[in-house]
Order: sequence, then structure tokens, then C-alpha cells
Amino acid sequence: MSEKGKIGIIGSGLIGQSWAMLFASVRYNVVIYDVDYEQVKNAHNKIKNELEIMEKNGTLRGNIGAEQQIALIKGVSTLEEVLKDAIFVQECIPEVLSLKQELYGLIDKIICPQTIISSSTSTFLPSHLSEKMEHRNQVIVAHPVNPPYFVPLVEIVPSEWTESWIVQKTRSIMEEIKQSPVTLSKEVPGFALNRIQYAILNECWHLVNDGILNVQDVDTVMSEGLGMRYAFLGPLETTHLNAEGFTNYTERYANSMHGVCQHFKAPPKFEGPLVKVIADQLNSKTPLEDLQKRRLWRDQSLTKLSQLKKYNNY
Ligand SMILES: NC(=O)c1ccc[n+]([C@@H]2O[C@H](COP(=O)([O-])OP(=O)(O)OC[C@H]3O[C@@H](n4cnc5c(N)ncnc54)[C@H](O)[C@@H]3O)[C@@H](O)[C@H]2O)c1
Ligand SMILES: *[C@@H]1O[C@H](CO)[C@@H](O)[C@H](O)[C@H]1NC(C)=O
Ligand SMILES: *[C@@H]1O[C@H](CO)[C@@H](O)[C@H](O)[C@H]1NC(C)=O
Repeated sequence: MSEKGKIGIIGSGLIGQSWAMLFASVRYNVVIYDVDYEQVKNAHNKIKNELEIMEKNGTLRGNIGAEQQIALIKGVSTLEEVLKDAIFVQECIPEVLSLKQELYGLIDKIICPQTIISSSTSTFLPSHLSEKMEHRNQVIVAHPVNPPYFVPLVEIVPSEWTESWIVQKTRSIMEEIKQSPVTLSKEVPGFALNRIQYAILNECWHLVNDGILNVQDVDTVMSEGLGMRYAFLGPLETTHLNAEGFTNYTERYANSMHGVCQHFKAPPKFEGPLVKVIADQLNSKTPLEDLQKRRLWRDQSLTKLSQLKKYNNY
């Protein structure tokens, strides 16, 4: 036994497996629970396999070997076992509100006052998950980005009743496992990542809908242009460097930028004939039967990018 505390993982799908690997990489004792115990065994095998491959190809995180990391990860078959004495429990069950609320109702009956319940949810506000709970002040969202092992952002989102020590402790645990947390001061729909992502998607939709660019060229604007900078700087620091600082950027560009934005259209709903137009162009480049192959390529590229970023720290 290492002297680190116990972390619980509820739900052993892709996201649960990634969290288990991240916690084990810094020597936490990790306990995984799933309604379907077969899934836990399956997850354990996949994790073992994945950690061994990464040890060989040099992408394993942490300073202990794959074998030691695997030994820190155990499966259990009851909710009681995963919650017992855990300092932090990461919930990773499917994105269905009624399922999550039902689980939180069960958790509420057995949770200790020192255990943090953190949800991986991409879309539900922490208040909606926890409002009916007696222990609602122990619930928070820690939203990862797929694949979490190689994309480090975690959005930490408290509800208005989440206790402040929970917010701070969650952030310090995320830093400890070497993810890159941001903490929202309060919950807002879409958190931060999806609000920014949707603003971009809306404009892409309009550019195609108005016949300005085709689908491939819209994607090229990001992948060969803005995305190159954004992988390192983010949009705000980008402006800071593109002038003599941000204040100077506003002096130079506030008028022209505001002028361009006067032409922006209202947020579209992604429905109607344009759906087929965009889908057809995407399918002709990457047919549905090739999605898995393309995802593997994406994850390999992200791995290389994350290694470059690690060596490229300013
Ligand atoms: N996949 C992504 O790209 C991604 C990214 C960020 C966040 N998330 C969020 O992470 C969560 C999990 O996503 P995933 O892709 O790993 O899902 P998944 O469907 O792959 O896995 C869910 C697992 O939960 C188990 N499960 C179902 N109900 C349960 C219950 N009541 N108790 C215990 N286990 C239960 C299932 O058996 C399954 O093994 C979701 O909330 C999702 O929105 C996913
Ligand atoms: C800031 O921008 C203006 C252009 O609006 C330019 O004339 C000025 O020299 C810039 N200031 C500095 C400190 O570079
Ligand atoms: C190493 O293996 C992992 C797990 O299969 C994979 O995700 C990653 O892309 C590989 N990295 C390299 C550099 O081959």
C-alpha cells in the first residue's frame, strides 16, 4: 500500500479508465466500480494493456512503472466499497440526467462528510445533479477533455452550494495528477470550453451556409491557421503578441473588429438541408467506417503535440 489516499471511480467506460490511469500515475490507490462488474474486469484489462504499451513507447505518465501503476488499480462490485474512506470520487457514468440523479440519490445515503463527489459530465450543471441531495455541498463537476491522458484541461465547476474547500481541494488534486485545471467562479451552461467551441461552430456553419467556404476550407482555417497558435497561446495572449500588448491591440483593432462583428448572424440551430451538405463533405473525406482509424490518428497526433508542448515550455 502506498501512503496516498483512496480515489473512487464510478463507471468504467473510456473516461473512467482514463481517470484511473491518471490517478494511479501519481500513486493514488484507485478503486473502480461499475453497475456491470464485467465492465470493471474489461476496463482493468484495457488499462493494463494501455499502460504497458505506453511504457514501451515512452508516453507513460508518472515516475513509477506500468506494473506498479496497474497494481494500484482495483475493481469492486458495490457502491459502498467504492465510496468507503475515499477522499475523492470521480463519477463517469453515461450522460443521462435521470441516471446520474438516481446514482447521486444512492450516494447521498452512504457518503462520508470528507468525500468529494466529482462528476465528469460535459453538459449538466452541478446544481442539477445535486439539488435533491442532503450532501449537495460535497458535489462538484470536473469536466475532462477527450482523450484526458493527452489533453490536460479540466474544467472545475462548483454549484452555488459547493463548499469552498471542495473547490480548492479538487483543483489541487487535478494539479497533483498533472492535468491543467481552470476553476469557474460559478456554473454557466456549456462551462467555458463548449461556450467557446459553440461560438466557433456557429460561425463555421454560417460560412458554409453563405457559400463563402466549403467544409474542408473552414477546417483548414483552424487546423492550419488559428489552431496552430491556439495550441500554445490561447486567443487572448495571441492578441497581446499581435500588437504592442493587449491595450495597443484594442486601440488598433477595436473599431475594425466591432465593424466585422456587426455582420455576425444570430446563433443557428444545426438542422435543415445544410446538415446533409456538411455531412456529405465530411463523409467523402472520412467515411463513417474510417472514423475509428481517424480517431487513432488524432490521438497519436495529440500525443506528439503534448510531448512537444512539454519540451517547449517557455
Ligand atoms: N467520452 C468523451 O469524450 C467525454 C469527454 C468528457 C466528458 N465525458 C463524460 O464522462 C462521462 C462518461 O463518459 P464515457 O464516454 O466514459 O461513458 P461510457 O458509456 O463509455 O461508460 C459509462 C460506464 O458507466 C457504467 N454505468 C452505467 N450506469 C452506472 C451506474 N449507475 N453506476 C455505475 N456505473 C454505471 C456503464 O456500464 C459504462 O461502463 C459522461 O458524463 C460524459 O459526458 C465524456
Ligand atoms: C499602439 O497602436 C497605435 C495604432 O493605433 C500606434 O500608433 C502606437 O504606436 C502603438 N503604441 C505602441 C506603444 O506601440
Ligand atoms: C503510445 O501508445 C499509446 C497507447 O496505445 C497511444 O495512444 C500513443 O499514441 C502511442 N504513442 C506513440 C508516440 O506512439
